[in-house]
Amino acid sequence: MVNTQESGLTESLTTPFSAELAKELLANYGSPLYVYQSDRLRQTISYITQSILNPRTKFHFASVTNGNVALLQIFKNCGWGLHANTPGDVYLGIKAGFAPVQIVYSGSNLNRADLEQLLSWGVTSLNLDSVDQLSLFCEVYQEFKSTWSAPRLGLRLNLPELTGDSRIGVRPDEFSQAINTAKSVGLKLGGLHFYRGTGTNATQAFTQVITQILAVCQLLPDWEYLDFGGGFGYAYRTQGLAFNWQEFGRELSQHLENIDKKIELIIEPGRAAIAGCGTLLTQVVSVKWQEGKQVVGVDTTVANLSVPSVYGGYREIVTTKDSIDRLYPTDVCGNTTYSRDYLGRNCQLPALARGDVIYILDTGAYGYAMSSHFLHRPRPAEVLLENGTHKLIRQRENYGALLNNQLFNYREDK
Ligand SMILES: Cc1ncc(COP(=O)(O)O)c(C=O)c1O
Repeated sequence: MVNTQESGLTESLTTPFSAELAKELLANYGSPLYVYQSDRLRQTISYITQSILNPRTKFHFASVTNGNVALLQIFKNCGWGLHANTPGDVYLGIKAGFAPVQIVYSGSNLNRADLEQLLSWGVTSLNLDSVDQLSLFCEVYQEFKSTWSAPRLGLRLNLPELTGDSRIGVRPDEFSQAINTAKSVGLKLGGLHFYRGTGTNATQAFTQVITQILAVCQLLPDWEYLDFGGGFGYAYRTQGLAFNWQEFGRELSQHLENIDKKIELIIEPGRAAIAGCGTLLTQVVSVKWQEGKQVVGVDTTVANLSVPSVYGGYREIVTTKDSIDRLYPTDVCGNTTYSRDYLGRNCQLPALARGDVIYILDTGAYGYAMSSHFLHRPRPAEVLLENGTHKLIRQRENYGALLNNQLFNYREDK
């Protein structure tokens, strides 16, 4: 029914699904519970896909935000490829059914074993972060090139005037060194990868730099693709600034039409694609009042959803409480005594009681993916809602998970 986080926000929010369904899910799978709505995810994928009219565009989901293979399969079935930040992203992508050629790797600081692993999995599109990474890649490639297909190589771009003091990427004055390095093993540098920085809701932060990026791309004689990131924001605040996909798509397509070369465009949305389809359900386990403020304890923790507390991110909190005569300033606290264990602070919520259900919205990105065993609570289960049914897509951990890979072989010396 209603709520909202933060005083001053007047708009009422609705829950993403009914109280009856929430209760059914919690009864079936326990609490806390990550719930994903496949119809919402498909709508977002379709909306983003249609917003860029350039015919040579490929979309790659950035699975750093969510590595559940059921969700990755939805992206795959909608025609998207995968963007990998790490070899682990590639591994999950392959397990979800992506062909290695559908995966673009654009990460950082791989060692020789990582690079060998990527190549042996068949990944052929790589955007490398430094000339040194490129040199190492070329050494590895030279050694095994008889068994591997020729890769499509690009560089991550570092332009201090656009990306501030970002550690990522290669500067244009290093391009000639990079080109020669690739050439020494018979390879070309065909692409540039630009990353604006995560969670940017200001559309102009992207559109205003297109001309500059395209000019830099032309410094590569074998330029054939532009990977424009990543980093597109999601409007976590109902009344906050929202990234405008239509405007971005229109401007980028126009610019690409105006250049002579017909190059491929790669777009790799992360949170923008998946944040909105996920909800973390949790239940109230304790309520106390302190000077007019409601202190609500819930059965999840910041280790299950670290963004709000550890990284200062904001997620709307909604409840289905029926009789809302009044809202109170409320802190929603996790089930540990860790000093930062808050899922929401200064929310405006009705008076709550044990057993009430709380929905933490827009937790599809950097939610489960950033959960950890810090505080030693097993991780929640994940459920997918699809065609009116619900399906468990990841089991809840039990306490045994806390012992994974630990060995009972230590004997204190007498
Ligand atoms: C290269 C790259 N692309 C895409 C993403 C996904 O980011 P976002 O969720 O901001 O779109 C990341 C996140 O780390 C990234 O490093």
